[in-house]
Amino acid sequence: MDKNFWDNVYESKSENNVSWYQEMPKRSLEIIMSLNLPISAKIIDVGGGQSKLSECLYEKSYKDLTVLDISEVALSKLKESLNAKNSSNKINLILSNVVEAKFTKQFDLWHDRAVFHFLTNPEDQKKYIDLLLTSLMANGYFLISTFSKNGPSKCSGLEICQYDKKDLVSMFSKLELIESGTEDHHTPFNTVQNFTYCLFKKMN
Ligand SMILES: C[S@@+](CC[C@H](N)C(=O)[O-])C[C@H]1O[C@@H](n2cnc3c(N)ncnc32)[C@H](O)[C@@H]1O
Repeated sequence: MDKNFWDNVYESKSENNVSWYQEMPKRSLEIIMSLNLPISAKIIDVGGGQSKLSECLYEKSYKDLTVLDISEVALSKLKESLNAKNSSNKINLILSNVVEAKFTKQFDLWHDRAVFHFLTNPEDQKKYIDLLLTSLMANGYFLISTFSKNGPSKCSGLEICQYDKKDLVSMFSKLELIESGTEDHHTPFNTVQNFTYCLFKKMN
């Protein structure tokens, strides 16, 4: 999976013309707010693209926010919209492939919506999991959403891996499952994509 592919997606499509667009990341926000994390919590949205999650969390007073993405175009478009809200300097943007990322701090919460499922190669999956485990603080949370077994088999023309709860529990077996479910995402094209989501906690 390469940077140019994703830059091209973000260059050629407007914010609400991609299948994963959400006017409001409602389910993620509900779960995150239910955790009652302190406002000093360090939160990262991995593969956040132009998602409004960081802006919503900022508005809810979270101030240690990071968005990582492989696409420079996605991050510059995100920065533009954060600028308009005066919050661009407050949110840390990291341009990197997640499997090659190096962080200088650990996180209380790692959020991933529709990113891990693009890692179809076991080596990349292992790199992601190793990085996640070292980057989460003790008692930190991991909230992931992927396409479910009833969801699409491709996204943006790329093969993805579909997961159900059992698969994610086995993939992230070093973490403890706290909550899980499925969600129908209604795309801007009037189609429905079924997601599996799981909230995990690092117990030590
Ligand atoms: C389907 S979009 C989801 C965007 C966002 N999470 C959301 O829910 O709106 C996938 C995002 O992951 C990014 N991405 C894909 N592969 C990545 C990788 N290996 N490392 C970091 N970001 C990646 C893409 O640039 C894109 O922004």
